[in-house]
Amino acid sequence: MTIVVTGGAGFIGSNFIFHMLDKYPDYRIVCIDKLTYAGNLSTLKSIMDNPNFRFVKLDICDREGVYKLFEEEHPDIVVNFAAESHVDRSIEDPGIFLETNIKGTGVLMDASCKYNVKRYHQVSTDEVYGDLPLDRPDLFFTEETPIHTSSPYSSSKAGADLLVMAYHRTYGLPVTISRCSNNYGPYHFPEKLIPLMIANCLYDKPLPVYGEGLNVRDWLYVEDHCKAIDLIIHKGTVGEVYNVGGHNEMRNIDIVKLICKELGKPESLITHVADRKGHDMRYAIDPTKIHNELGWLPETKFEDGIKKTVKWYLENREWWEEIISGEYQNYYKKMYENR
Ligand code: NAD
Ligand code: DAU
Repeated sequence: MTIVVTGGAGFIGSNFIFHMLDKYPDYRIVCIDKLTYAGNLSTLKSIMDNPNFRFVKLDICDREGVYKLFEEEHPDIVVNFAAESHVDRSIEDPGIFLETNIKGTGVLMDASCKYNVKRYHQVSTDEVYGDLPLDRPDLFFTEETPIHTSSPYSSSKAGADLLVMAYHRTYGLPVTISRCSNNYGPYHFPEKLIPLMIANCLYDKPLPVYGEGLNVRDWLYVEDHCKAIDLIIHKGTVGEVYNVGGHNEMRNIDIVKLICKELGKPESLITHVADRKGHDMRYAIDPTKIHNELGWLPETKFEDGIKKTVKWYLENREWWEEIISGEYQNYYKKMYENR
């Protein structure tokens, strides 16, 4: 079995590759990644010599390069994690989101059709459903919730999802889509809420909470997401969408306070800054379908997952300090100075 994993030098893709190499010692995993600002080869250093693993630096929009790779590898399965993934960056500069997230997905599916891939899996997001109101805790995103996006990022992911379903109907490409809630865990890029707050706490820097911090996200430990995708690519029904989330809704402000507590830092570091434009209020997944059809349930409780995550960032300072010492400094200044 050969699986092409795109975006494997990023947060969730790398965790997925580790999971797959560990669980399936007879599978070949080929990672293609453009190594954008969010991709780090150092993340994959422990598996670079694994004979079942190959890394190829490649842009998923590079049609010729992708076809050549598929000609060489004849993958059975393609799992597409590669994307521009940060909402704030999409608000500043939407263009690259349309390129990678929509056009890149098209190129991968053309290659999958040409080389008779048995399963094309699109890693999507709950953000395609837009948001839920805070005063309706009875409402959740199901697979039938209409697509209703708020940011250029979520619109580009929704565009890709529509294209995936169109390739299934028009060309018969055997596809599946997973729409997951917010992940957290090791190798999470420091621009995102949880690692940003951990890093800032450790430097005693202000903790920039957007608006009042009342927005709710439904957090899932990254390993549980990887296990869900593993199940879907092996047992999921072709042409179906699966929501992935673990009923773990938390307000941003409570997450930040919890991180302060874990690290023994004062809550006075919290600074309320200008809100994100078009900021989604609440995400909450109904995971009934993946539970009933595939038996998936999240295994890591948030209390344990957040402790493990904080510990990982404490023990792996080299990994994130290297990232935040470079070009990231300019990004941080641009996004947070005078906010
Ligand atoms: P990430 O930003 O950490 O990693 C993205 C990876 O894709 C990087 O390694 C980057 O180099 C690579 N990449 C970007 N453009 C590329 C291109 N044109 N060609 C090849 N590689 C390219 O992202 P992540 O948080 O790991 O998210 C992975 C996927 O999961 C994305 O599709 C995202 O939409 C989806 N998702 C993320 C979350 C979350 O909470 N992080 C939740 C649900 C879904
Ligand atoms: O729901 C899934 C999505 O989760 C994925 O599709 C995205 O790729 C992923 O980035 C994530 O999107 P969010 O926008 O929810 O994640 P982020 O970590 O950027 O922000 C989480 C919440 O914290 C959000 O309400 C904005 C807020 N926030 C974020 C940052 C970076 C702050 O208050 N301050 C910050 O500095």
